[in-house]
Amino acid sequence: MSEIRHVSTEPPAGGPVRLERHGRVALLLIDNPPVNATSREVRAGLLERFETLARDAGCDLVVLAGAGRNFVAGADIREFGKPLAEPQSPDVIRAIEAAPQPVIAAIHGAALGGGLELALGCDLRLATSDATFGLPEIGLGFIPGNGGTQRLPRLAGLPAAIDLVTSGRRVGAGEALRLGLVDRVVEGDVVAAALALAADAAVVKRRVRDLPVPPATAEAITAAEAAARRKLATMPWIDEALRVVGLARTLPIDAALAEERAVFQRLRVSEPAFALRHLFFAERTAGKVDGLDAAPRPIERTAVIGGGLMGGGIAYVMLTAGLTVRLVERDAASLTGALQRLEALFDRAVARGRSSVAERQRCSASLSSTVDLDAVAEADLVIEAVVEDLEVKRAVFAALGKIARPGAILASNTSYLDLEALAEASGRPADFCGVHFFSPAHVQRLVEVVRTADTADDVLATGLALARRLGKVAVVARAAPGFIGNALFSDYRQACEFLVEDGAAPEEVDAALEAFGFAMGPFRVFDLAGLDIAWRARQAQGGRAPGLRYSTLADRLCEAGRFGQKTGAGWYRYPDGGRRPAPDPEVAALIARTAAANGIVRRPIAADEIVSRALAAMLNRAALLLEEGIALRPGDIDVVLVNGYGFPRQKGGAVFWASRQDRRAIEAAVDAHCRKMDKSFRRGDIGSLLQAVAAAG
Ligand code: COA
Repeated sequence: MSEIRHVSTEPPAGGPVRLERHGRVALLLIDNPPVNATSREVRAGLLERFETLARDAGCDLVVLAGAGRNFVAGADIREFGKPLAEPQSPDVIRAIEAAPQPVIAAIHGAALGGGLELALGCDLRLATSDATFGLPEIGLGFIPGNGGTQRLPRLAGLPAAIDLVTSGRRVGAGEALRLGLVDRVVEGDVVAAALALAADAAVVKRRVRDLPVPPATAEAITAAEAAARRKLATMPWIDEALRVVGLARTLPIDAALAEERAVFQRLRVSEPAFALRHLFFAERTAGKVDGLDAAPRPIERTAVIGGGLMGGGIAYVMLTAGLTVRLVERDAASLTGALQRLEALFDRAVARGRSSVAERQRCSASLSSTVDLDAVAEADLVIEAVVEDLEVKRAVFAALGKIARPGAILASNTSYLDLEALAEASGRPADFCGVHFFSPAHVQRLVEVVRTADTADDVLATGLALARRLGKVAVVARAAPGFIGNALFSDYRQACEFLVEDGAAPEEVDAALEAFGFAMGPFRVFDLAGLDIAWRARQAQGGRAPGLRYSTLADRLCEAGRFGQKTGAGWYRYPDGGRRPAPDPEVAALIARTAAANGIVRRPIAADEIVSRALAAMLNRAALLLEEGIALRPGDIDVVLVNGYGFPRQKGGAVFWASRQDRRAIEAAVDAHCRKMDKSFRRGDIGSLLQAVAAAG
């Protein structure tokens, strides 16, 4: 990526907006590390500079650029939870539009959110070919508030503006040029190119606000609106975005801008906006470990052992990220199957336009396959993704310990097996870590990077760097049963099963949690994932813990061969081999029998109680995970739940959600959950948990 001058990590002494004179041209350089967000100081600096330049008869042209790796990545999101300090961004944009000189935005890197809106306030936009543009506000729970919804339609037309505002999609320089967002794409130094335009008589004031909205067909507008409305269930504020963008057709621009600002001000302090900001920072922090300053080991050549659903998905993401992959299977038939599945993933990506034929060819050239484990001797990193069986995995690591080159990283993708035992089997525990992808690995964003007691710092750093390179959200966990995600999920599962024993039907539990916002209710998830995996995990972990309440329902279902959707029956039945779950009277009878045998008098359970009990179980486990040092921060728990378990993003994760509820009600729900488990069940320190998330926010 191109870079403009060195930036220190501190704002420069003269303020974050530097003014340089180049003859009759003024260059304004925004220098506000790390990403030139338009903080109050930047806004004040820009306003002051433009006010001065307005009186400067010796200045014919102003060039606005960003120092470091980006133009401007947006407003400073940290300021959004409080009243915004003066001056505000619309004041700055008004000053740019009122400037007597033409103002050119010279864009490199990211021009996002308020950064793009700043550029849209200028008279001309030049960009490097690696620049990216977008209005990500919708994904943060609000709409652009500095004219983006009104100036964008005037340049790109209404359908494209609807798409960009309601999807938050980022576009590269090529597409931005086609859409009219930028006027020219330049190779090399974009600031020099802009300065050179001082001699160009064609560069004149051309305010976007004065342009008419180009005509568009009703069909194109309706299609763009319909695409946006498909996301209304999880992002209801899209309706407001559509209404406000539509004002570009019906209202004079100043009235439309005033309405946009009013909606922005209201939405930015809405509950979803607080939750999504929490996740924005939590996701960026999750992959970091305080005090870890080891440099990652270089990784280019990798090997994946096991080409099943997980191994194939992992190989796919590593190839698309530009790594070399050697795929290892145990025999020729399995290898053929694995390669066919991998081919199918590439086919689909090309068919859907997510990849190109050239990209696919590049990936194929970087892939080799073998049935010979010795062939991984050259790999910098080996990821094991064979069947979830401790003995099988132990044997793989014992062999890898002998075969892999010194310094190679040995990683396991297990989701629940004992990592310490695998580390020991390898004979190289310092080089070992867990890299737990979620299924399917090429779709799910979450990766748990798991360290054992012996994992070397630079191995952990490499795991995190790898996840980042693959475009994943990484969370650090310590080796312990279920790490973070499956430990939370296991308690959630139990709570849902107790709800069913106590009187709710599986479909009632699903409906209540789906109404809360979960992508899918728990019993549908269990059926989809397959009940047998958790069953085997429970057996591997020694079955029921003595003294604690234990629901035998899932075990009974598995003993009856009901493994979920794949066997046509689980918690639900799936008539005609289909995917639509139907409540099953046989399951209802099993539940009634089991409850009666355990002396439970079943009673109707309201949706509120279902949600409260299911979330209390997660919260208690979250507190325990933090106390035990298995998870590092409350935000990491939320990142895991949202990215790996379908927890509603707009609620910010279980911990954030709880921090916004009545504290006593949450404590009481957790108390009730712990009592239901057993007197000896450990209760986590919920108070500290909620305080920690409040302090972080
Ligand atoms: N406001 C405040 N802080 C921001 C920010 C913003 N708009 N955008 C990024 N940051 C912070 C990050 O939290 C991170 O802080 P940290 O180092 O303390 O963890 C730092 O800037 C670097 O961000 P990171 O994402 O790690 O850098 P990158 O080089 O990988 O990516 C961007 C740079 C600009 C592409 C990326 O940060 C990004 O997409 N930001 C989101 C921009 C956005 O949503 N803007 C719209 C705001 S309305």
